[in-house]
Amino acid sequence: MLHSRKILLIIGGGIAAYKCLDLIRRLAERGASVTPVLTRAATEFVTPLSVSALAGQKAFTDLFDLTDEAEMGHIQLSRLADLVVVAPATADLMAKMATGQANDLATTLLLATDKPVLIAPAMNVRMWEHPATKRNVTALQNDGVTFVGPNEGDMACGEFGPGRMSEPLEIVAAIGAKLADGPLAGKHVLVTSGPTHEPIDPVRYIANRSSGKQGTAIAAALAALGANVTFISGPADADPPSGVKVIEVQTAKQMLDATQAALPADAAIFTAAVSDWRVSNVAGSKIKKGESGNFPALDFTESPDILRTVSKMTEGRPQLVVGFAAETDDVLANASAKRVRKGCDWIVANDVSPETGIMGGSENAVTLISEAGQETWARMKKVDVARKLAAKIAETLA
Ligand code: C5P
Repeated sequence: MLHSRKILLIIGGGIAAYKCLDLIRRLAERGASVTPVLTRAATEFVTPLSVSALAGQKAFTDLFDLTDEAEMGHIQLSRLADLVVVAPATADLMAKMATGQANDLATTLLLATDKPVLIAPAMNVRMWEHPATKRNVTALQNDGVTFVGPNEGDMACGEFGPGRMSEPLEIVAAIGAKLADGPLAGKHVLVTSGPTHEPIDPVRYIANRSSGKQGTAIAAALAALGANVTFISGPADADPPSGVKVIEVQTAKQMLDATQAALPADAAIFTAAVSDWRVSNVAGSKIKKGESGNFPALDFTESPDILRTVSKMTEGRPQLVVGFAAETDDVLANASAKRVRKGCDWIVANDVSPETGIMGGSENAVTLISEAGQETWARMKKVDVARKLAAKIAETLA
């Protein structure tokens, strides 16, 4: 996907600039060519020498380098790439971009380019939440700039919240999605996957069985068709696919929050085996084993139903919402009723009785149920179910 693609990487002056060294390596591993440009402030955080050594190309730093201007003017530099990536995009750089300033090489290239621009913001949480930055984000989005991140977490400044730059692999995934061609290019698809873990106490939890294999295969198949995929996964056995934005969660509540934060999306595929109940009296410390025959009393409450919540959205609902129904009895009748009850467009029904070997296995036998009727697919590998489903999604979103 990234082989031979040309990326103009503008490195802003923030502590997250160090992650760009890894980003360049990851891009180079995938066969992309990276032309680095550092703002003056960026050179305080990483050296042009390390950047250029990893990129295998000259690192540009100064607008008025007469040799560069003679050999390759800044306008030309801004046009040679397939994509311009700004990482880290500092509050200052975003403000300059939003107001069209061009007072150094980086901002001049950004104003002169005719190529798509992807930015990975990184700043202190207060700066990210400041109304001025919010105005700049809106202005940049209106100008067609694509964002990856920022993520929420611990920050170098000691605070916690949104403002951390996305990890290099997330940026690589966003670059891949931006450059992808394929029937789903430009579409955002959200996939939930894996089980959820609902705590009983700090060491115990309840969960459903789920390897995450089918969800992972679906996310990979959608990305292969060019979709920009957000993959929200509980603690699964399967490694998350590459080329997608991964959000790891533990509980149903966290999965719902992550899903809502990732919207809007063109389609949402809910493959996760979400625990239907959670313990409402979670113990703050480990429950002691106690005398034999003396069991702790657990109070249960319903988990939020993510599929139902998204299906029933009155505003901003994805065009296509797909649920899964893993059943052991009356599979098709139960799955059809579930489609109507939850309000999703399609439901993928499968029989997970132990004798089928589907749960945790590498094959699946599914029936796709929609308002129009039912389609039973022959038993096939989970990756093939994923490809067939992704192709059908592409057809529907076209
Ligand atoms: O109700 P049931 O768990 O059988 O429904 C299965 C479908 O609903 C799956 O698509 C699953 O991902 C989704 N689901 C959900 N949130 C829940 C329960 C199920 O999104 N709390």
